[in-house]
Amino acid sequence: MAQEMKIPVILDGDPGHDDAIAWTIAHASSRLDILAVTTCAGNQTIEKTTYNALRVCALIGLKAPVAKGCPKPLLTEPMNAPSVHGESGLDGPPLPEPAFEAEPVGAVELMARVIRACDRKVTIVPTGPLTNVAALLMAHPELKQRIERISLMGGGLAHGNWTPAAEFNILVDPEAAKIVFESGIPILMAGLDVTEKALVTPADFERIRAQGSAVSDVVWQWLEFFYKFHRTLGYEGAPMHDPCAVMALIHPELFTMKDYYVQVETLGDYCKGTTVADWNGILGKAPNATCLMDVDRDAFADRLVELIDRYREVSA
Ligand code: BDR
Ligand code: CA
Repeated sequence: MAQEMKIPVILDGDPGHDDAIAWTIAHASSRLDILAVTTCAGNQTIEKTTYNALRVCALIGLKAPVAKGCPKPLLTEPMNAPSVHGESGLDGPPLPEPAFEAEPVGAVELMARVIRACDRKVTIVPTGPLTNVAALLMAHPELKQRIERISLMGGGLAHGNWTPAAEFNILVDPEAAKIVFESGIPILMAGLDVTEKALVTPADFERIRAQGSAVSDVVWQWLEFFYKFHRTLGYEGAPMHDPCAVMALIHPELFTMKDYYVQVETLGDYCKGTTVADWNGILGKAPNATCLMDVDRDAFADRLVELIDRYREVSA
């Protein structure tokens, strides 16, 4: 059988426990070729998320270039989430110190460089606010045609998690999200509709803990930390928001998807940052997003556990 081509990707995020787990499974997968890692401000300040990104790379042995992203949203004031991810942005188990430094160029320039250099179209996987991606599209509009698609975690068609209507990543930088959704680049949207169903439960944590590798040892503790917050909200496991954006690329068969035209609300007293789907085609516009709506929870957890288990082979 002909060998499947790897998908060239740029990982852009604000680690963050679920970003870190998303990157961990992305690196474990044989289906992705990680060209670069870029950081955004979101769960914590850009200084903290960049330090965390470098520490995650050291832990999982990822040697892709890392670049620091925009320090603030395009127009609004920064907003962080220490209640979910702690003061460091990645509280919990100790992590190795960075094995290398961030690139001397910023995220937008690194993205542009690797997209230009790649002989195939590149997929961007944003798991934080969309500031860097919007800045890239504004600074280098000619590169749009070199982007295959954007598989993002953000939004929610039914409800929000930071306000009743808005999800954190979109709320932090709604103007950036609007630019991305209106870019014409195909979007794969992992919103709360699916990510809140992609639960990894304490029984799954135990399966990961039992693997006994240096990486699994950190991952189960990240899961426990992340779950501690979500349990207070009634969740029966840790919602794997950001891993959905990676899993949708490597195991699309796990998900139910629907195409919609999705708009981003940038104004409003109650609905700023909301992703609004044209459910019944009233606007008569072609869909701009393929939205993940449901997931086979058990199979999702099995794939995630298997991917983490690949680090046992590496450390053996
Ligand atoms: C999103 O917000 C962040 O806290 C998580 O990392 C995820 O990207 C979920 O709303
Ligand atoms: Ca994130």
